[in-house]
Amino acid sequence: MKRALRGTNRVAFSCLFFLLAGTSLRMTARASALPGTGTLSGTVSAPKPFQAAQVYARNTDRKVVFMVYTAGGKYQAVNLFPGNYEVSVSKKGFASDVKKVVVRAGEQATVNFALREAAAEPMRPGNLQQAARTVEELVPYDVLYPREPGREVAERTCIFCHGVNFVPTHQWNESQWNAAVDLMSNPRHPEGAQIPPGTLSPADRRNLVSYLTRNFGPISKKRGLELTAEMPLDEQTLAKAMYVEYDLPVNANARPRTHDPHFDHDGNVFYTNAGENGIGKLDPRTGTFRHYPIPTPKAGPEGLTADAQGHIWWSGELAMGRLDPKTGEMVEYPLGKKGDIQIEAHTPAMDSKQNVWFTALHGDKLGKWDRKTEKIIMWDAPTPSPYGIAVDKKDRVWFAEYRFCKIGMFDPATEKFTEYSPLVTPCQPRRVGVDSKGTAWYAVHNSGMLGKIDPESGKIVEYKIPVPYSTPYDAWPDREDNIWVSDGGQGGALIKFDPRTEKFLYYPSPRRTDMPKIEITRDGAIWYCTRSADIQAVGVLYPDMNKITTLGAYY
Ligand code: HEC
Repeated sequence: MKRALRGTNRVAFSCLFFLLAGTSLRMTARASALPGTGTLSGTVSAPKPFQAAQVYARNTDRKVVFMVYTAGGKYQAVNLFPGNYEVSVSKKGFASDVKKVVVRAGEQATVNFALREAAAEPMRPGNLQQAARTVEELVPYDVLYPREPGREVAERTCIFCHGVNFVPTHQWNESQWNAAVDLMSNPRHPEGAQIPPGTLSPADRRNLVSYLTRNFGPISKKRGLELTAEMPLDEQTLAKAMYVEYDLPVNANARPRTHDPHFDHDGNVFYTNAGENGIGKLDPRTGTFRHYPIPTPKAGPEGLTADAQGHIWWSGELAMGRLDPKTGEMVEYPLGKKGDIQIEAHTPAMDSKQNVWFTALHGDKLGKWDRKTEKIIMWDAPTPSPYGIAVDKKDRVWFAEYRFCKIGMFDPATEKFTEYSPLVTPCQPRRVGVDSKGTAWYAVHNSGMLGKIDPESGKIVEYKIPVPYSTPYDAWPDREDNIWVSDGGQGGALIKFDPRTEKFLYYPSPRRTDMPKIEITRDGAIWYCTRSADIQAVGVLYPDMNKITTLGAYY
């Protein structure tokens, strides 16, 4: 008995030794794969030190990409579908070969890399401005926008909304820039005048147009902002993380455009696909997709949610809709017009009674599809352009009012709106999320802030996302009330904010893209769509691949 005990101690001691000895051993020891899948691991060496290189394992049969990070020059990916793979490593300043390997169920494949030094390509921002990809030159901010009279007006009037890469990809003469200012000042714009009357004085307008014509005239080059700040990377955190991206099937006639993933009761991920005018379904366990067309042409679906019955609700430019995935039947609820503006339903969200709430960006409404009457009721939002939406545990409806920098809250019990003003202004909050304690979180796309509102006291606290030119979009809690932020600014990252430590952890994305709306499973997997990427995919980040128990996605 005594001897047996001593033996146990020795095992415990040597385990401790292995744990202390390094991540690589720990990762190998824990390597576990779901039934029917395989594992891939290997080493990555290079002539110079590097941190957290991204290792891509692309399943060429199923068009699924698994991406993990190196720690101490080692990597591991688990739960790979069996099949043919192309594996490569990406790290700024290095080049890698692409190696082929076959992954078999229940087996561990090994691929090692020796990176070569290579010229570092300047970083391009990965946010929505598609034009940024075709730029001829990337330059620092002060070269892109020389410090001359007019710059400050351009910053607060155009760059504020369009981001840093929009203006420099237009090569226009004076009358074209004047036309653009007229377009943005037109009150007949569906979202109202983008430059509200009285906010641009005649002198400022002259300065602005002269600045734009001088620096972004017909003979100027298409330029974009060169990013110099690197995302902070924590190898020990990233060593556990794995991204998986499922490429949408190629359609020769239409370019898919994906948004807003949500889960059904069976582990599938639904999303809107405006490019192909429909709703998509991915089964993450097999990588198979199904497309559900929307009968109305050009319905422009963007937001999506799922109800307790297993129906999928979507919102779009012309209507709200409900899909029964079992039959494929689609019911549409047209929203009509406000004056001559077509009311556009933005994101839908479900309350505890299974009523469907939505915002109407064009038309400035908050709406509800009532489960009992099956009718839609709408209220005028207190400030124009209600956008992202979330329902809290008390069935209060939170929404971002992105044009004029407010967060709104509607209490259906009293039918009263309360508004909160973010601290750093001007601001464009896109989305709100509510954590388990009822705290509302919002990310400000144009100022790089993450904010929280205590609904009881009304107190607001804001945190600066720690990398310049961040464009945080969604702010959504996981089960432990960490707040996850999707940020396209640095080329794409999901960022975890822990409110207890007030620290941000970066998980750079596999592709250059924004990842607008995110949705989190009960196991803490973060799902997203690669909206602005060249290849449209539905993706997921597992912050700890060793804890994956299923590839299905469940609330
Ligand atoms: C409050 C936000 C906002 C401001 C301020 C703003 N814009 Fe826009 N702009 C938009 C939105 C939203 C659209 C897209 C609407 C659409 O296409 O109907 C747009 C569209 C445009 C377009 C046409 C679309 C394209 O891609 O060519 C041009 C040109 C443009 N803006 C230039 C400007 C310039 C120049 C300024 C500064 C003088 C400016 N905008 C200020 C929000 C803004």
